[in-house]
Amino acid sequence: MAAEVVRLSDLVDQAAAIAALTDIFFESSARTEFTSSQERQNFLERWTEFYLTRYPEDVWFWREADGTFAGYLTGCRNSVGAMPLYDTVPGYKLFEDCFGAFPAHLHVNCRNDRRNLGIGARMVEHFAQGCRENGLAGVHIVTAPTARNVGFYQRAGFTHEVIRGFGSRSLLFMGRHLGAEGGV
Ligand SMILES: CC(C)(COP(=O)(O)OP(=O)(O)OC[C@H]1O[C@@H](n2cnc3c(N)ncnc32)[C@H](O)[C@@H]1OP(=O)(O)O)[C@@H](O)C(=O)NCCC(=O)NCCS
Repeated sequence: MAAEVVRLSDLVDQAAAIAALTDIFFESSARTEFTSSQERQNFLERWTEFYLTRYPEDVWFWREADGTFAGYLTGCRNSVGAMPLYDTVPGYKLFEDCFGAFPAHLHVNCRNDRRNLGIGARMVEHFAQGCRENGLAGVHIVTAPTARNVGFYQRAGFTHEVIRGFGSRSLLFMGRHLGAEGGV
């Protein structure tokens, strides 16, 4: 079996994939301290539950040739319609005016020991291609202006950048146009 991008809803053993997603999520998160296991669980659910329950067809995994999951991408093709996220994701509303031009959004994380191998770029490309085939105008992510991943997204074509203050910090919106590439 060759390494490939697979979707959650096509997998027979979805529990194994979700367990891997949970491990990768906590490995990748800047937050490591929790006052209780319930708080840790709430944090995980805030960032993943919506995608797992509402859009399992857009939860993607990088599955290695040996069957292990090295990374995941959670996507949503309709950011305007993702009502629960307006209340649960900090700063979600901040860039609402950009959702028309970049209606889809994604989160992507790879295992520590599988970074810098091009896996993240291939998963982003896979999701972007599906969005383009759907006729969507663009896809976006939100990160911090100082985050190391900014260069990763710039190289992946997320060149429309907007920085806004959010409480005591700043958030960076990065949009990638899809229609202009000739797919739609
Ligand atoms: C960002 C990430 C998904 C990219 O996937 P990848 O397979 O490692 O990426 P590629 O090999 O295609 O590209 C390498 C680039 O990824 C980014 N990257 C690599 N390790 C990273 C890390 N620990 N934290 C943040 N970004 C990282 C860098 O931009 C790197 O390029 P650089 O070495 O020039 O700085 C992956 O590195 C990761 O999971 N990082 C930690 C969590 C994260 O930042 N997720 C995105 C949240 S918005």
